[in-house]
Amino acid sequence: MITGHFPIAQFERLETPFYYYDMTVLSDTLRTVNRERAAVSASCSAFDVHYAIKACATDAILQKIAQAGLGADCVSGGEVKAAIEAGFPADRIVFAGVAKSDREIRYALEQGIFCFNVESLEELEVISSLAFEMGTTARVCLRVNPNVDAHTHGKITTGLSENKFGIPMRFLPQAVACCYRLPAVEFLGLHFHIGSQITDMKPFVHLAHRINELVAEVEQMTCTDPNGNTVRPTVQHINVGGGLGILYEHPNHFPIPDFKAYFDTWRTHLHVRADQQVHCELGRSIIAQCGNLVTRVLYVKKGENKQFAIVDAGMNDLIRPAMYGAFHRVENITHPEKEEQLYDIVGPVCESSDVFVENYHISAVERGDLLVMRSAGAYGETMASQYNLRRLPGHIISSPK
Ligand code: LLP
Repeated sequence: MITGHFPIAQFERLETPFYYYDMTVLSDTLRTVNRERAAVSASCSAFDVHYAIKACATDAILQKIAQAGLGADCVSGGEVKAAIEAGFPADRIVFAGVAKSDREIRYALEQGIFCFNVESLEELEVISSLAFEMGTTARVCLRVNPNVDAHTHGKITTGLSENKFGIPMRFLPQAVACCYRLPAVEFLGLHFHIGSQITDMKPFVHLAHRINELVAEVEQMTCTDPNGNTVRPTVQHINVGGGLGILYEHPNHFPIPDFKAYFDTWRTHLHVRADQQVHCELGRSIIAQCGNLVTRVLYVKKGENKQFAIVDAGMNDLIRPAMYGAFHRVENITHPEKEEQLYDIVGPVCESSDVFVENYHISAVERGDLLVMRSAGAYGETMASQYNLRRLPGHIISSPK
């Protein structure tokens, strides 16, 4: 079995399960993102990349991404705080999320973040009144639900009318007018996010076309400011969200996603003027392939018709297979040379859904072998829980390149 390169001697000394982040893969990924971003910025307008902190918020990872010059996309006050502590400049932080609490809004205003991505007219009113009380102005983008199908897993689709996210398109003019009428918000532009793990560029093409229509619609409006003056809205910022997917089946052959195709899609299909800025907020594509969950085989158990490799990591450590039926490649790094056998690889949690993969060929395993679940850097450690009162998985970081 082909496996990635892992410091097995170091792993042997550690208590499993834990996440292992390969900083060489992360460095290569960040270098590629920055190169492709610069290429598209040179040929159209400024294109800025924000990292979606929800994917992985481990300190050393955040610091590395901040040092590489990416901004931060946050969805809670806790994420805004983590971004600031990791060194992301406040003016490169955006705060999205369908329900921000008053405390979170106040905190973000105090920090002077770049902007709030606002998801409802109700939220707009609250942000304005809190900013007004604090004697400041909140910069806002309106998150629009564009009713574009991302053709991904139903649980990670966000841009359809039936989803809770964003302002329905028919309320957009009202929301823009509201931004100009309210005393303490400044309208910057529009925000979109249609879903995650998108590997075919077509949904992004559809989104680009929808954005072009909506920007034109907004810029044709006339609004009235609090002094009764007529103003024409300008969409200075277009935030296209995240969603670029990775190849879970092939972490060894394709560790870096196709950022060129992704940026080229926007360059080709999105109409951007020189006075406009485009933001994207990538999570999975930046961090998934550098992270791995390292676990140890506790028992090899014969079932009636199956063979179970029972490992010490459970669904509490990596919930993606149980929650989305997601696939993570599993490699036996202790005995990669052994002939493959068929297993269900399962965890110790008292739930039938605590299964990582079924009917899976892997080099024959025995008690004590180390297995690695690949491509687990995104939505792995951040989604871990203590269910069954298990300890949270730890993590180790490879020495930086
Ligand atoms: N922007 C917004 C507003 C988002 O809601 C998300 C992800 C992103 C950006 C980043 O998307 P990405 O580039 O990572 O696809 N737990 C699920 C994924 C949930 C994604 C939530 N929102 C999973 O494990 O597949």
